[in-house]
Amino acid sequence: MSAIPATFRAYVAERLDDRVERGVRDVNATDLEPGEVEIRVEWSSVNFKDGLATRFDGKVARISPLIPGIDLAGTVVASDAPDLPVGAAVLAHGYDLGVSRHGGYAEFQRVPADWVVPLHGLTPREAAAVGTAGFTAAMSVAALEERGLTPADGPVLVTGASGGVGGTAVAILGERGYEVWAATGKDTEIDRLRALGATGFLTRDEVTAEGRPLESERWAGAVDAVGGATLPYALRTLRRGAAVASSGNAGGPKLETTVFPFILRGNALLGIDSVVVPIDVRRQLWDRIGSDLRPRSLGANVTELTLDTLEEGLDGILAGEARGRWIVRVA
Ligand SMILES: NC(=O)c1ccc[n+]([C@@H]2O[C@H](COP(=O)([O-])OP(=O)(O)OC[C@H]3O[C@@H](n4cnc5c(N)ncnc54)[C@H](OP(=O)(O)O)[C@@H]3O)[C@@H](O)[C@H]2O)c1
Repeated sequence: MSAIPATFRAYVAERLDDRVERGVRDVNATDLEPGEVEIRVEWSSVNFKDGLATRFDGKVARISPLIPGIDLAGTVVASDAPDLPVGAAVLAHGYDLGVSRHGGYAEFQRVPADWVVPLHGLTPREAAAVGTAGFTAAMSVAALEERGLTPADGPVLVTGASGGVGGTAVAILGERGYEVWAATGKDTEIDRLRALGATGFLTRDEVTAEGRPLESERWAGAVDAVGGATLPYALRTLRRGAAVASSGNAGGPKLETTVFPFILRGNALLGIDSVVVPIDVRRQLWDRIGSDLRPRSLGANVTELTLDTLEEGLDGILAGEARGRWIVRVA
């Protein structure tokens, strides 16, 4: 039996002929898709993709009207899944959420059981502060370490460091004892990034400038969510045998590089996709985010929004204004 009230509040994006109409509406429980688990959503967050989902030219939303929000965290209020009982603190993200199925900007949500992650070692607020962006950062660090990276290997580069993926990567690597170098376009973020664990800094100009096919070997590893001109910089400055984990395109989707880092230094480009991840793998990584991959100062560097003030974050993230994570107090 459903535990969701007949109507509740949600932030909705609806595509019209020439624009997307956005705002808070009362929606009906019958508007939600089927699923075995009903969740009272306490927290969501703002990711780059959420901004795009509310833009006319964003190419992310697959249904209209759409309740965006690719992250949600809260408490189970009804469940047909024995391992996800009523009262459990959970999160869900990825798959179709907030893209082709209603997402986290709603006071209640109904989702398939095999999309749900029980929270261990994290509150719903902390889980939203990590969110898809932080999970992607954790995937990136785990992928580099699975390939052999350790703190003893030398400096690790994180690009787009003021953003959600970048900032969380700095905070995870810093807490794990790495020498972290942060590339950022924002001077004003340096103190915050230092507190998260960065010890060296590069300007955005340094990591987007044109360069030779191979330059001095600097980085034992790199986490890049910027793409554009920045990923080629990371590739041509990796140390012999090192890898860069690539997850984003905040600086553009085109990749212009040479094969020399691969064929002369044995470097590797590790692709990171947080959307389609088998649920057992997703749950295991979230358990690690609550323990050995826990980001330093988790939950401290966040800006809190509500459904009524959400637009500031949705527009700000696309304008490159991210300074840590925006989280959304939903219920
Ligand atoms: N693969 C996945 O599963 C996955 C998951 C989550 C996110 N992503 C992608 O990862 C990217 C980052 O997401 P996010 O949530 O971290 O976004 P974000 O919070 O907006 O961070 C992006 C950061 O990139 C830097 N940046 C922005 N525009 C730039 C430009 N033109 N040139 C160079 N740097 C620029 C900025 O950092 P500085 O000012 O510090 O340089 C900005 O804060 C997005 O493309 C997103 O779609 C992918």
